[in-house]
Amino acid sequence: MKSVQPSVGDRGLRISGPTPLPPRVREAASRQMISHRSEGFRQVLREVSERLRPIFGAVHPVLPFTASGTGGMEAAVVNTIEPGQRVLVLNIGHFGARFAALSRRFGAEVHEMVRPWGEAAEADEVEAELRRSRFDAVLVTHNETSTGVLNPLPELCRAIRRQSDALVIIDAISSAAAVPLRLEDWGADIAVGVTQKALMSPPGLALLAVGDRALARAKACGTPRFYLDLNEMAEAVASGTTTFTPAISVVFALAEALEMIEEEGLQDVYRRHRELAARCRTGLLELGFELVATPDRESPTVTAVRAPAGMSAADLRRRLEREHGVFMATGRGPWKDSVLRIGHMGYVDGEAIEATLRAIAGELDA
Ligand SMILES: Cc1ncc(COP(=O)(O)O)c(C=O)c1O
Repeated sequence: MKSVQPSVGDRGLRISGPTPLPPRVREAASRQMISHRSEGFRQVLREVSERLRPIFGAVHPVLPFTASGTGGMEAAVVNTIEPGQRVLVLNIGHFGARFAALSRRFGAEVHEMVRPWGEAAEADEVEAELRRSRFDAVLVTHNETSTGVLNPLPELCRAIRRQSDALVIIDAISSAAAVPLRLEDWGADIAVGVTQKALMSPPGLALLAVGDRALARAKACGTPRFYLDLNEMAEAVASGTTTFTPAISVVFALAEALEMIEEEGLQDVYRRHRELAARCRTGLLELGFELVATPDRESPTVTAVRAPAGMSAADLRRRLEREHGVFMATGRGPWKDSVLRIGHMGYVDGEAIEATLRAIAGELDA
């Protein structure tokens, strides 16, 4: 098949997921099928769900649902929140709004703390809100992909735990495996990740790290669910399988990606993400773009910038794709034509960032 990314090969995918696959991972994903009830599969699944634990800071094996990230968010909500329960959503962008909409759809009484796009949720405000009112759960996006903002999650979790015994549910979809996550140490209850972002694997699995409080809440929770039942999945994973047919190829791919992450070292993976993000920001500032994220809250996995005055971000995105084979995203909603978003998570190195910056510079000069 002819490559659709001629200039920078298979490294030109600079959207915020799916991300490029390392050759080793592609090879693993193309393995022959095996039975998901076989001993061979049980071994791989057990290993994968164990080896994901440090990435989430979880005590229990991580649960793989065959779903996209939103399916994982839904699993977290339907297993722990009942109609009429009070949910606080820290909404700092598009994906925070999705968490609120999803919870509302299942009948929760949702209160949103909304921050202007580009800003993070701040611990003192959350603590003050929790002092004023009681909530059954707090939903928070770790890394808001729509704005390139990283929430100060350790501080937020500390503030929540000081004031409340609400369940803390984290959307870690664009942070897991790129940014430290300590579910248990931070007193949080569920974190949702995916395979197709910093985990360098194809889309297909939503990964749920679940603590004891959440499992207990799930046992008592009366909200109907079938496919997404957490306790049933936890039991299945404990015996080395999944409740229903899993995305087997993605499990194979993920096993290989975890091997690569372990070879590099998780702390070094985090450092690489921080350094590449910093280089991306500097390069874009030098080219005349303006950062969307407030200082000290910039994301290590996705950079969102405002295009220089008079320039259409949507037009620039199209030209980068056509002329350079570099694929990135524009802003969401009202930011569609003014903001450019560059993903730098997973299988990405300095040369990939330099190639991206060169492509952008080339189009600015054109
Ligand atoms: C922070 C965040 N939450 C949720 C999602 C939704 O994930 P999916 O598209 O896999 O359902 C995304 C996807 O980009 C995301 O970045």
